[in-house]
Amino acid sequence: MAIVLGIETSCDETGVGIVADGRLLGAALSSSMDEHARFGGVVPEIAARAHLEAMVPCVSTAFERAGIAPSDVDAIAVTSGPGLATALQTGLAAAKAYALAWNKPLYGVHHLAGHVAADTLEHGPLPPRSIALIVSGGHTSLLLLSDLARDPIVHLGDTRDDAAGEAFDKVARILGLPYPGGPAIDRAARDGDPTAFPFPRAMLDSGFDFSFSGLKSAVARHVGQGGPAVPDVAASFQEAVVDVLTRKAVRSCREHGVDTLVVVGGVAANRRLRALAAERCAEAGITLRIPAPSLCTDNGAMIAAVGDLLIAAGAEPSRLDLSADPSAPL
Ligand code: KG4
Ligand code: ZN
Repeated sequence: MAIVLGIETSCDETGVGIVADGRLLGAALSSSMDEHARFGGVVPEIAARAHLEAMVPCVSTAFERAGIAPSDVDAIAVTSGPGLATALQTGLAAAKAYALAWNKPLYGVHHLAGHVAADTLEHGPLPPRSIALIVSGGHTSLLLLSDLARDPIVHLGDTRDDAAGEAFDKVARILGLPYPGGPAIDRAARDGDPTAFPFPRAMLDSGFDFSFSGLKSAVARHVGQGGPAVPDVAASFQEAVVDVLTRKAVRSCREHGVDTLVVVGGVAANRRLRALAAERCAEAGITLRIPAPSLCTDNGAMIAAVGDLLIAAGAEPSRLDLSADPSAPL
């Protein structure tokens, strides 16, 4: 059994998690989101400085919560990309320092593999084949998965413009709601009518790519025409996004003969997405796996989980000159 320390710093979250044998032992998280809010988006240099300040306290807290000592750790896993370059470099520098100081192997991890592996901490190993819908501030991807540690991940579709979370954030700004916009729209939508405005559902029945910029423009045009009720716009916008996401995800499972759908990433915390995905997967006979919201958003445990899988699969560690790859391909 290997004990893996995972470090995640690809965006604004400093995440540290300790995983042993597919089980989460302890974790700590520090977010610099409050510092970015007034800029309406994550400022890379501010994020990098915040990672630097939060890293050692987060690592100490994770060890305390796990009830183990650094000498118990067998390996260090760290996000090497994709993400913000300066933010990634902070995590890599810390992970390399720990690997050197403790004389432990280092594993560079792809951020999206981490999002998928997060679910295994709650629901156990993935079946031999599954499809993942990753919906976050930076990504909207449908991925065909087999063995996460051994086989390549197959990209089925991606967003052609805005990521789903980015669309939530931009529409929230149009509606005068706070940043990050996803949780704000989720809340506002509870009092709204999702059928109030028939916003466009781009590329609904064609292929597996996504496009959300037309929807965002449609909301902006609508709001510009004079003060519609915010809850109705929020609910109608949210419905358009989750309708497209769930329809395409279910269709991709059908077309690829896959019976397990994993939904992860920050937007997977959305209440309506969780409800509609459950409804449509049940209708289609698909097993739906969505982890708790704390495992959906960026965290260190998901990176440790991939490290754990890599070690179990006998993968070679990364070299200590491993560099950040801000636009790492899958
Ligand atoms: O995965 P994540 O924490 O970071 C990235 O890797 O991007 O995702 C953050 C994104 C933000 O765009 C945020 O607005 C969105 O996830 N988000 C939500 C909800 N909670 C977070 N979107 C819709 N509904 C939510 N409840
Ligand atoms: Zn992420």
